[in-house]
Amino acid sequence: MIPNPNVEGLFVARLKEIVGDQCAETIHQTMRGPKDQAYWVNPLVDGEIGFSGTPVVGAANCYVLPASQRSEITESRAAADGVVYPINPSSVVAVTSLAPEIGEEVLDLAAAPGGKTLLIAAAMNNSGRIAAVEPVKGRFHRMRANLKRCGVTNTEFYCADGRGVGRKVGQRFTRVMLDAPCSSEARIDWDREQTYQHWKARKIRETSRKQRSLIRSAFSALQPGGILVYCTCAYAPEENECVVDHLLRREPSADVLPVAIARDETLAGLTVWQGRALDPRLKRALRILPDRLWDGFFLCLLTRRNPSPS
Ligand SMILES: C[S@@+](CC[C@H](N)C(=O)[O-])C[C@H]1O[C@@H](n2cnc3c(N)ncnc32)[C@H](O)[C@@H]1O
Repeated sequence: MIPNPNVEGLFVARLKEIVGDQCAETIHQTMRGPKDQAYWVNPLVDGEIGFSGTPVVGAANCYVLPASQRSEITESRAAADGVVYPINPSSVVAVTSLAPEIGEEVLDLAAAPGGKTLLIAAAMNNSGRIAAVEPVKGRFHRMRANLKRCGVTNTEFYCADGRGVGRKVGQRFTRVMLDAPCSSEARIDWDREQTYQHWKARKIRETSRKQRSLIRSAFSALQPGGILVYCTCAYAPEENECVVDHLLRREPSADVLPVAIARDETLAGLTVWQGRALDPRLKRALRILPDRLWDGFFLCLLTRRNPSPS
């Protein structure tokens, strides 16, 4: 495949529209070369770790080693046995924001390979029930094996399209995680063509349509007073604020809650995109800005307001 030299320029021009010139330049500089590797220590499996990383401030149970030592984690006995799980701190804070509690019923609507499901199960100490949904067969089976290896016992697995789930289950879950399939813009490394060869504005629009159906399904499954986390590793507002805006316009009982995370390098959600006003509550959403360790991430916390007494 012949690399398209325009893709990087187009991407950066769009990023400037989203986060401003200076912030876009800073993000662009983080998008080359290997990143440091974090891992999460799994309380559900006992065992030797065999390496010692530095604690990641703001991400519970999470430690980091420099990029040069990445394989010490990913190829370790501890990772193979599920004693540690390689994960990005942005994913850890997504689960912390969901705040699952002992005994709850939780829906993870786009679950493979299962990193967030694992952290949810650990937060619940394997109590209650998690329904983990993934439609892609290969990914579904890998997730099941992954979570078994990591000591997860409170999860039921469904190989299904998440778009149909809300309609079937009704307002049943106290917590819903929607880590939506996305353009993965935050995973682009401009030195590795395979990470950006599918990036196109048209693809973003297609993905946005799927995300809109998924968020409506996720919200349909949420109990009054429950919490829904919508997150992506994309910068595109079409995949983030516009998706949440779509939900807010159609669901009067939906509301946006503030996200509190222990990291300063964040931006508030946009309330205008390309001249179009979005719901003002979207300023409570958050973009985590990337660096050598943290992935760029969009995080929005939603709830279903309790019906007012008649
Ligand atoms: C960002 S990944 C999820 C990562 C996962 N939450 C984790 O932390 O390990 C998005 C997942 O959504 C799945 N997906 C794609 N289309 C879907 C759909 N219609 N319904 C549910 N999941 C879908 C993808 O196959 C992919 O596994």
